[in-house]
Amino acid sequence: MKITRAVLEMRAASRAARGKGQRLGLVPTMGALHEGHLALVRAAKSQCDVVAASIFVNPLQFGPSEDLSKYPRTFERDCERLEKEGVEFLFAPPVEEMYPGGARSYVNVEGLSEKLDGKSRPGHFRGVTTVVSKLFHIVEPDLAFFGQKDAAQVAIIRRMVRDLNIPAEIVVCPIVREPDGLAMSSRNAYLNGQQRKSALLLNRSLAHIRELFQRGERDGTALIAAGKHVLGEDPSVRLDYFEIVNPETLDPVAEIRQNSLVAVAAYVGTTRLIDNILLG
Ligand code: PAF
Repeated sequence: MKITRAVLEMRAASRAARGKGQRLGLVPTMGALHEGHLALVRAAKSQCDVVAASIFVNPLQFGPSEDLSKYPRTFERDCERLEKEGVEFLFAPPVEEMYPGGARSYVNVEGLSEKLDGKSRPGHFRGVTTVVSKLFHIVEPDLAFFGQKDAAQVAIIRRMVRDLNIPAEIVVCPIVREPDGLAMSSRNAYLNGQQRKSALLLNRSLAHIRELFQRGERDGTALIAAGKHVLGEDPSVRLDYFEIVNPETLDPVAEIRQNSLVAVAAYVGTTRLIDNILLG
């Protein structure tokens, strides 16, 4: 695996690969890799001739009171795992390479970036779309792989790609869960034993909603109330949002249909976790 830290070097490498007619896949990450990331890498390996992963903890998507400095960084281990999966290129730029002094340009998907996580994390999605569009310009992938766990991020990136005619196909891979149902996340590393147990309530609340939906409940307010009730079983879990939305527009839906997105975010201790399901 070739590790590159410079924009021009990465672009030259990916252009050389694509110049030979190879289909190039990109797996953008912030490192602290877990099985969820490796599932993206495996999907990329199965659909592409050459795979590039990126590791960049993007300061632009962290708010002033968020966990940028304590975000888990496990670079050596990440490299070993990517190498083992057969990744050809790793792009791991320093912050100054991605945001040279004086950078004043941003990409923002207005109308979507303020929804779900965007409500409680103002500016977060602007940071995501700015860095992802930069990665797309640098790597020029044919396909780019994202996890369904970040459902709002997926909707916003899809819209950005459509609106800006970015010639990359977005591939979304299913959520990877621990055997007990907890959605895999780099932030799970912050949880102590008790918090790890409390965190299971996110998935349990979603499973409860799915069950009610399968039994015929279609009233959004009732479904959300049922989900909140499950989360409320543990007072140490503090709700951020519980919403049922259209997965493309992220607008709330009142009369629930197949394919509605049920999304939850909650704090367990100081760790903010998210999870979701698609109904039907
Ligand atoms: O999902 C993530 O890890 C990040 O938001 C991403 C897409 C790598 C952009 O920094």
